[in-house]
Amino acid sequence: MRVSVIGGGYVGVVTAACFAHLGHGVSIVEVDAGKVRTINAGEPPIYEEGLEGLLKVHAGKKLVAGTEYGPVADSDLSFICVGTPPAWDGSADLSYITAACRSIGEVLRGGKKAHTVVVKSTVPPGTTENLVIPTVREASGRNDLGFAMNPEFLREGRAVKDFLHPDRIVIGSTDPAAGERVSKVYQGLDAPIMRTGTTAAEMIKYASNALLAMKISYTNEIGNLCKRLGIDVYEVMQGVGLDRRVSPHFLNAGAGFGGSCFPKDVAALIHLAERHGEDPVLLRSVMEVNRRQPLRMIRILKDRVGDLNSKKIAVLGLAFKDGTDDIRESRAVPVIEALLESGAAVAAYDPLAVPNMRQVFPQIEYCTGAAEALAGADACLLMTEWPEFSRLDGEFELMKNRVVIEGRRVLSCDGKEGICW
Ligand code: UDX
Repeated sequence: MRVSVIGGGYVGVVTAACFAHLGHGVSIVEVDAGKVRTINAGEPPIYEEGLEGLLKVHAGKKLVAGTEYGPVADSDLSFICVGTPPAWDGSADLSYITAACRSIGEVLRGGKKAHTVVVKSTVPPGTTENLVIPTVREASGRNDLGFAMNPEFLREGRAVKDFLHPDRIVIGSTDPAAGERVSKVYQGLDAPIMRTGTTAAEMIKYASNALLAMKISYTNEIGNLCKRLGIDVYEVMQGVGLDRRVSPHFLNAGAGFGGSCFPKDVAALIHLAERHGEDPVLLRSVMEVNRRQPLRMIRILKDRVGDLNSKKIAVLGLAFKDGTDDIRESRAVPVIEALLESGAAVAAYDPLAVPNMRQVFPQIEYCTGAAEALAGADACLLMTEWPEFSRLDGEFELMKNRVVIEGRRVLSCDGKEGICW
């Protein structure tokens, strides 16, 4: 089939590359001409394991990127993969969705070819029905178009693997024929396909992310108590996770969740609930536990080294998790803020995320390796679960004062303390 993908972010590029891998002809519509050039050159515009290999094979052949919407008119389906960033009040900003719908509609105007518009972006329940369908219909002047909602469940850094090996494919549609057409695009993937309505599909995405975020905050709350009782929360949650109703996943205690999805999606769900007269105390608590969690690192640090003024603190890990250079909502951000407010000098290292964090904190020292950050440091805070940190040992001897606090269970050396273990 011929597929258009609107938006060349980590969801759009991965979706496009994987659809090409499944044998479809794919056009990416991306407003950033630099990104278009990068993709057409077979270079991944973002760091995603396995993406480069797919682009090297398909770019310029089954997969072509451009800034214009023209190719949409020749495609059978278009997948909207643009961002829905948080607005100032926590609600989802749908301006990019609206713009994409208008442009899709305009290019389909006057056409006769069957076409299905599919929303893949994370949108509040009701968006496909109340915004996407009317906007595309008005811009195209057509009533014969199909519509569907097909949420993504991709983890940054593992998005290609998650796309090609999904636990499930969810397809929401008002018209069964439109849902059928979307199912056909996924032929070749071994996963159950769940058919439902568009609003249920939209809610499945939010409810999934909020549940995963809740598992993390729940684990951290249990961990904070376990530490006071001298119990290892990792042993506790290993026992809890053996219950198949719970599953062992997303029960790793630590500095909390970051990223461009969990914080944004839980906040949008809270806003949606409040707007509809609900009082989402549980979801607000998920966010409050997560807000407080990284600051425990600072409290432990002050307990261990006293006044932080003029102390050198090494921060190992800046990305919101390992395997990515993304620092959005990284738990390292509030920790560095608190260190600077306390007058500490920060020496930071991360295998990938230094260029991004330098935009946020240009005033701190960035190191080319852990050893450089640790040399002469009064303490060390580990904020990201990079596997390379598990091999650190002798490097801690370079510290002036060997106080090592980990916000992620990574280190295998002696003499460390965990945020809640
Ligand atoms: C998440 C969802 O997993 C994915 O399905 C959805 O489509 C997008 O949002 P992502 O944000 O890329 O994916 O990262 P994820 O791997 O889920 O981790 C999110 C955050 O939670 C990271 O900061 C990670 O360090 C933290 N985390 C994860 C924990 O603190 N404990 C855990 O057990 C798992």
